Amino acid sequence: MKCTVCKGSAVIDLPRHNANFCGEHLLEFCRRQVERAIDEFDMLCETDQVLIAVSGGKDSLALWDVLDHLGYRTHGLYVGLGIGDYSDTSGDFVRRFASQREGALTEVDLLAEHGYDIPAAAAHTRRSPCSACGLSKRHVFDRVALQGGFDALATGHNLDDEAAVLLGNVLRWQIEYLERQRPLLPARNGLPRKVKPLVRLTERETAAYCIVAGIEYQVEECPMAVGNRHLAYKETLNDIEVRSPGSKADFYLSFQRRAVGFFADAGTRGVRRWSSAMVAVPRAPQRSAPSADLSPTPVHQAPRHPR
Ligand code: AMP
Ligand code: FES
Ligand code: ZN
Repeated sequence: MKCTVCKGSAVIDLPRHNANFCGEHLLEFCRRQVERAIDEFDMLCETDQVLIAVSGGKDSLALWDVLDHLGYRTHGLYVGLGIGDYSDTSGDFVRRFASQREGALTEVDLLAEHGYDIPAAAAHTRRSPCSACGLSKRHVFDRVALQGGFDALATGHNLDDEAAVLLGNVLRWQIEYLERQRPLLPARNGLPRKVKPLVRLTERETAAYCIVAGIEYQVEECPMAVGNRHLAYKETLNDIEVRSPGSKADFYLSFQRRAVGFFADAGTRGVRRWSSAMVAVPRAPQRSAPSADLSPTPVHQAPRHPR
């Protein structure tokens, strides 16, 4: 197998791009894909101070490396979740990466700073561990990004992650989630801008990037995420991808280019439609003389937004 660019020995084949790459050209390809995603979705500008949420896994460490190569001002953030050995070794990978490159790193330990860890939070709230974990992480990400005055918060969500979430939302037509499934969420209500620069790369590509670039990462999956529904969606999309290379990227990127706009304000519009329907319902006849009543006309209660 030969590299499509230099004809040297290739280390990876990428059927969806109809290409094979040697190590050097794989790194170049991945960096170029990130650059294209940042440009297409207007995620970052050159002077931005970017806070990168790093878990110790391949995606977020590759993201840190790529953004450094592209010349952004970066700062890592690791959240210690208290999930036994898994968290201990994840933290070690992040610290090693940061110290090898003299990268700035902030660490937040959930138990030490907030008095709980993920196993305890999941047991107390009776939420699934992943949803308690997601909520806690987002809270810490937002706080550190705001307090540190960062322009943007970047996470390592890749094409497989985003396509799987999209499939889940489409299967249930969760339009209030669809409208927010963008790789760029502008700053709002005091929250920092959020970006996902890896949406053009699959997890196979970010893993290969780390191996070629000599980045050591946490290979284990989180032990609390076993049975997570998104893993099944990823497998389904991979089966489709084998039969029809390029489908996964098309599914996600075409949604961004052609469809996500249809869902803008979908949640709010749903509520508005609902409340106008309520107002149109004839009111019960009033018993007392209305002229004597100066209180405001009762407003029908709109249902709460589902989120
Ligand atoms: P996950 O939700 O585990 O799929 O992770 C998605 C992204 O969230 C990762 O690529 C990281 O950018 C970020 N992330 C996950 N876990 C942590 C963590 N413990 N500390 C900091 N960032 C994290
Ligand atoms: Fe959050 Fe596993 S990393 S539940
Ligand atoms: Zn090559």
